[in-house]
Amino acid sequence: MALRIPMIAGNWKMNLGIAEGAELVRGIAAGIRDVKGVDVLVAPPFTALPAVREAIGDAGIFLGAQNMHWETEGAYTGEVSAAMLKETGCTHVILGHSERRSLFREPSEDIDRKAAAAVREGLIRRQLEGSLQQFRVQGSMPASTILAYEPVWAIGTGLTATPDEAREVHGFIRGWLGDTFVSDAADQVRILYGGSVKPGNAADLMAQPDIDGALVGGASLQAETFAGIVRFDPV
Ligand code: PGA
Repeated sequence: MALRIPMIAGNWKMNLGIAEGAELVRGIAAGIRDVKGVDVLVAPPFTALPAVREAIGDAGIFLGAQNMHWETEGAYTGEVSAAMLKETGCTHVILGHSERRSLFREPSEDIDRKAAAAVREGLIRRQLEGSLQQFRVQGSMPASTILAYEPVWAIGTGLTATPDEAREVHGFIRGWLGDTFVSDAADQVRILYGGSVKPGNAADLMAQPDIDGALVGGASLQAETFAGIVRFDPV
């Protein structure tokens, strides 16, 4: 089985200004300096991306955005493209978050187009079935893709799936990848759990065989708390 490096990703949502974002990421970098073997990503709002990129320096924290458009440029007022995100130093982009789907009515077809565009630009992202249609047609999915399973009732509520419940769904997703793609996607793609992940529950979740990391919302807005999740299993 391929070795999947755990990833802890912080989704800041529509929180924090430029100076606050830079300060937070400096605090995270300081809090995880000695941690090895975990990929760490922060996804600030668009406005804070350049400042957060600069504040990261050589700390080895990945930078992600929270959305993008599938076209490279043009008359799309209010949108940003994958190339623009790359220019700010993003290596990743979160696509198809449940808040985008429920609050902004984003359909799977749009997420599918975004997913294909993100991969074309070398940005990496997530969600199943309709949202990965173009990969299904191709029959392969880039190993660098990261999926996230987040029970909607667990997002921002303080409720979490039990490690057993989460393991069952992650196992299902891994099985779906294996059935759907001829490539090694099932072994290589990381599947993150999200929904009220905190320092106190991260270790139990991360101990499950098919859980490769966490997508963290509320608890990613404080350096100490987020660093506590990254240090779920101190080495
Ligand atoms: P939460 O959000 O950690 O605040 O529940 C997770 C997410 O929506 O990505």
